[in-house]
Amino acid sequence: MPDTITITDDRTGKTVTVPIEGGVFPSSAIRELDPSLFVYDPAYMSTAACRSEITYLDGANGVLRYRGYPIEQLAGQSTFLEVAYLLLHGELPTAEQYDQWNHEVTHHTFIHENMRKRFVDGFHYDAHPMGLFVSAIAALGTFYDGAKDIENPESRHKQILRLIAKTPTIAAMSYRFSQGLPFNYPSNDLSYPANFLNMMWKIGDYEVDPVLERAMDILFILHADHEQNCGTTAMRVVGSSHADPYSAAAAAASALYGPLHGGANEAVVRMLNEIGSADNVPAFIESVKAGEGRLMGFGHRVYKNYDPRAKIIKETAYDVFEVTGKNPLLDIALALEEVALSDSYFIDRKLYPNVDFYSGLIYQAMGFPVEMFTVLFAIPRTAGWLAHWQELLNDPEQRISRPRQWYVGVDERQYVPIDSR
Ligand code: CMC
Repeated sequence: MPDTITITDDRTGKTVTVPIEGGVFPSSAIRELDPSLFVYDPAYMSTAACRSEITYLDGANGVLRYRGYPIEQLAGQSTFLEVAYLLLHGELPTAEQYDQWNHEVTHHTFIHENMRKRFVDGFHYDAHPMGLFVSAIAALGTFYDGAKDIENPESRHKQILRLIAKTPTIAAMSYRFSQGLPFNYPSNDLSYPANFLNMMWKIGDYEVDPVLERAMDILFILHADHEQNCGTTAMRVVGSSHADPYSAAAAAASALYGPLHGGANEAVVRMLNEIGSADNVPAFIESVKAGEGRLMGFGHRVYKNYDPRAKIIKETAYDVFEVTGKNPLLDIALALEEVALSDSYFIDRKLYPNVDFYSGLIYQAMGFPVEMFTVLFAIPRTAGWLAHWQELLNDPEQRISRPRQWYVGVDERQYVPIDSR
């Protein structure tokens, strides 16, 4: 069977034969057929907007790989900082490269005192930490002269380091501010996840539990990238205008804030609380089937199988509960999963648990308030956003993002002065 598709424009009789490579149909064929023709594809359901070498995702079979490495191996054996290096550089670091990377990130964790004292203090006392996080990431760029110098590889590297190193500091600061607690400075002698947990929780003699430190690292690895999702697409679209990476990352974080994206883990815990007990699960499932709401943490645009990240998170949850005690919402979540996975509504639509279904339960057991959940997603995803931003800037095929539209509004008409309307 030839790997081509032939299309004929019935209006003109013109025919083009289009080569299909990697399951992709190049839109240049449409331009060749008729340059005035556009493809109507709301929500980019069938559009590949870039070539990427970063993350491979096979939604039908539940496969996720970063730079070729299966997510299960990375979650089992790697660290978040190593994964961040892998996403950005394409290869795992040697021991020497890792030491240098670790040293560089660790030595960029502090933020300017004005960020905390003047910028953050201006927020209302009960500001949502994710709103604060989004604004703080954008504001951070204004502190660095080189932020806009995106053509210079050295400066680009510096901004990447700063963003990866400072997001945990900003995240912890957002939380401490919302609680009225004094801010904890970063500690250079702690690992990336331990430093974050220490900044979050340290009051008096706090010591990071190694099981929770490892769980945090695994959660960071699982959230580090997920190819062209809504947030990453926002990063690429804004980055394509050559805005500085702080502004682009703030746009990506804003996209992540939405309840259909990174806000879903917060929505899952709220939903489980509303359900209240495992006995109420069948009635809740019926209400979802009747169109009265969605089963949050279920379904995915790309995965039409169990999300591989959800499997790992579910296993990690049990390790965390050994330390923290079981989250009482777990029984409701397990009952929901069991009922949904055997119900034809969910089976027919290929709706399985996604990354957000169990992550909220771990976060809650570790003491994070629900408002912090999306912030916890944004910390590691910053590495993925930056890997895509870098790839975009190095891609000669990319230009400023500028989709077309199908205008369906009124045709030309004459202006009527207000007193004649
Ligand atoms: N509960 C009930 N029904 C659902 C759900 C759900 N969670 N998700 C999809 N459906 C139904 C939907 O009603 C539709 O049914 P029908 O064909 O009868 O109209 C069908 O399944 C297809 O849904 P869709 O909205 O066309 O699918 P989508 O690809 O546009 O949406 C999604 C993907 C993630 C937005 C959606 O599944 C959803 O809203 N899930 C709940 C929110 C959630 O958990 N989001 C986290 C996503 S994973 C983390 C991330 O990457 O951000």
